[in-house]
Amino acid sequence: MSESSFRDGWADLMGSEHITKEKVLDHYAQNAENYDEHLRQIQSTGPTRIAEKLAQQVPLEERSHFDILDVAAGTGRVGEALVEKQFGTIDALDPSQPLLAKLEAKGIYRRVFCTFLGNGHNAPVEDGAYDGVVISGGFSKEHLPIEVLDEIIRILKPGGFFVNGMTASYIKFPELLGLEPKMDQLEQAKKWVKISREVQSGSTIHAAGLYHVYKKL
Ligand SMILES: C[S@@+](CC[C@H](N)C(=O)[O-])C[C@H]1O[C@@H](n2cnc3c(N)ncnc32)[C@H](O)[C@@H]1O
Repeated sequence: MSESSFRDGWADLMGSEHITKEKVLDHYAQNAENYDEHLRQIQSTGPTRIAEKLAQQVPLEERSHFDILDVAAGTGRVGEALVEKQFGTIDALDPSQPLLAKLEAKGIYRRVFCTFLGNGHNAPVEDGAYDGVVISGGFSKEHLPIEVLDEIIRILKPGGFFVNGMTASYIKFPELLGLEPKMDQLEQAKKWVKISREVQSGSTIHAAGLYHVYKKL
């Protein structure tokens, strides 16, 4: 499949009123083989920026034993970027087995959880299991619901960091309008504190990225 037909397929999915979780998973299964190559062609920088933002918060000497969960990990592009920054213990969570097969072949991740998060699905880990939680591209239509922020608070250690990167325009999807208000509510409830919120151009050749960094209290 060419880059443009991959992109058109994604645009059709995001523009459809009839999008379902099954159609989302089917899109990923159909494109798993060439997923990384498509993202390379559109010069996707989200995973690298997420790894840089986490690295800004964590001294080099602490990174090898800093436990991270990559939520909506897909083929593991964030793991590759985290390893570049010398992070060493990274787990993955994603419902798409075809994408996770690509991720596992990279040999970067410690544990891999093939499951949805949200809508009644929790991460199969104890409270405070992770020093860091990262999400790249997980907030979009029929992907992660905004309630997963509560679960992220649960699985982060006090003092741990959450880094989210997403396509900036998706914040206007009706189901994501509550995402930043929910982040603010959690800050008002003293669950975490905002480190940064940035919109950066060039997340791909087509789109700007929106990045959030929070520190759990
Ligand atoms: C745009 S891809 C991003 C993949 C990877 N993080 C990256 O940056 O290349 C979105 C991912 O979200 C996953 N996903 C969708 N719904 C999810 C859910 N409810 N819980 C966890 N992952 C989900 C998909 O399977 C897919 O791998």
